[in-house]
Amino acid sequence: MDYTIEKMISEEELQVRIREVAKEIEKDYQGKDLICVGLLKGSIMFMADLLKSVELDLAMDFMKVSSYHGGTDSTGVVKILKDVDADLTGKDVLIIEDIIDTGLTLESVKKFLMTKQPKSLKVCSLLDKPSRRKVEMVGEYIGFEIPDEFVIGYGLDYDELYRNLPYIGKVVKK
Ligand code: IMP
Ligand code: MG
Repeated sequence: MDYTIEKMISEEELQVRIREVAKEIEKDYQGKDLICVGLLKGSIMFMADLLKSVELDLAMDFMKVSSYHGGTDSTGVVKILKDVDADLTGKDVLIIEDIIDTGLTLESVKKFLMTKQPKSLKVCSLLDKPSRRKVEMVGEYIGFEIPDEFVIGYGLDYDELYRNLPYIGKVVKK
């Protein structure tokens, strides 16, 4: 391996902050018709821990998209590999994502989900790298803002590895 992994956010820090975000969501979605849409696969650990602490009646659904990065095309950047199963019409939809980087993935996903006429559509992301934005994208619920580093763990991968780590680490080239 030509890289090492350095711990950036510990398991304890993650769990404390995730509980705080869960309580914000719980307060804001009282009496609403909440459906949480996780983006596979990166959001799975976060979504599982987050929603265990949201004491509300809510539904869960999933989407899988593929991102095309580094292309010249700034439109149609994502391909929908799996659509949600539920009818989102009139629902309060909360997208659950692992990280907002350029913002291109969420821009496309939001545009796509808006065509399903939800009552509201917001974004909850565990991590945010605002310095990398190519389009304006603001998440309503953010766990941690991080610098421009490639991170892995807790759902995030490097070539499909490390999603099972209970903490967030950064990849450091040797
Ligand atoms: P965006 O479209 O550039 O905002 O990219 C979002 C997607 O890129 C995320 O859902 C991740 O799958 C991936 N991604 C961006 N930054 C990282 C990172 O630091 N580690 C792992 N995956 C990342
Ligand atoms: Mg992802």
